[in-house]
Amino acid sequence: MQILRSGSQCTPFQGGTLVPTMGALHAGHSSLIRRAAARGAPVIATVFVNPTQFGPGEDFDRYPRTFDADVALAEAAGADAMFAPAPEEIYPRGLETARHEAARITLPEVARTPALEDACRPGHFAGVCQVVARLFELTRPRAACFGEKDFQQLRLIEELAAHPEIALGCPGGIEIVRCPTVREHDGLAMSSRNRYLTEGQREQALGLYRALQSCMAAQRIATAELLMRGTLEEHGLEIEYATIRRAADLLPAADFHEPTRALIAARLGPVRLIDNMACPIWR
Ligand code: PAF
Repeated sequence: MQILRSGSQCTPFQGGTLVPTMGALHAGHSSLIRRAAARGAPVIATVFVNPTQFGPGEDFDRYPRTFDADVALAEAAGADAMFAPAPEEIYPRGLETARHEAARITLPEVARTPALEDACRPGHFAGVCQVVARLFELTRPRAACFGEKDFQQLRLIEELAAHPEIALGCPGGIEIVRCPTVREHDGLAMSSRNRYLTEGQREQALGLYRALQSCMAAQRIATAELLMRGTLEEHGLEIEYATIRRAADLLPAADFHEPTRALIAARLGPVRLIDNMACPIWR
């Protein structure tokens, strides 16, 4: 597997399948890379801890950096190249300028829905858009794999990839491949941030999965949301949101007659965890 540091080194892989990551790879990332490899085109995994998507006081400095292990995992999963650029390659005009530019990005509506990620992490999605657009520009993929674990991010990137300015740079456009959330044996969604959890917190964190499961049989939105909140509170989790939204636009759902998604963000001290699940349709 080749290690690439510059955009020009990515040229031979244009038209391939991209798997953008921030490193600290785990089995969830392996499944993204395996899904990418199954498409048959060359696979580029990326590792870049993007400073512009972290807010003040968030975990940018302590975000786990495990490059050698990431290379080994990506290679074993079937990646042909690992693009691990320095910040100057992504933001040649410097980080300060990049932050100003991010602040001017107008996000698609799906990223601005009330009381979800954008409300809890202002500026985060602008940084995500900025870095993903730049990775697309440097690698010009035909497809890119993203996990459903970050469901609102996935919907945002689907909108971003359809934007004429982005799509024009990549002949044929960019297909966004949705990849299912990978879970531990007991249901905890895999996340690079799980390694921050102590043993006790690891048990509490299971509350997110249990809360999602607890609401799957509910046939009314209000009941589903109450069940989720109850389970999260039983596990001592501090709730940021626990809500049922329409799967397409992430606006509040009135009923379960159309595809909906249960979405949770909760905190355990300084550790922030998110998870989500598709709800059944009830007619
Ligand atoms: O989901 C992530 O790991 C990041 O937000 C992404 C998409 C790699 C952009 O930095």
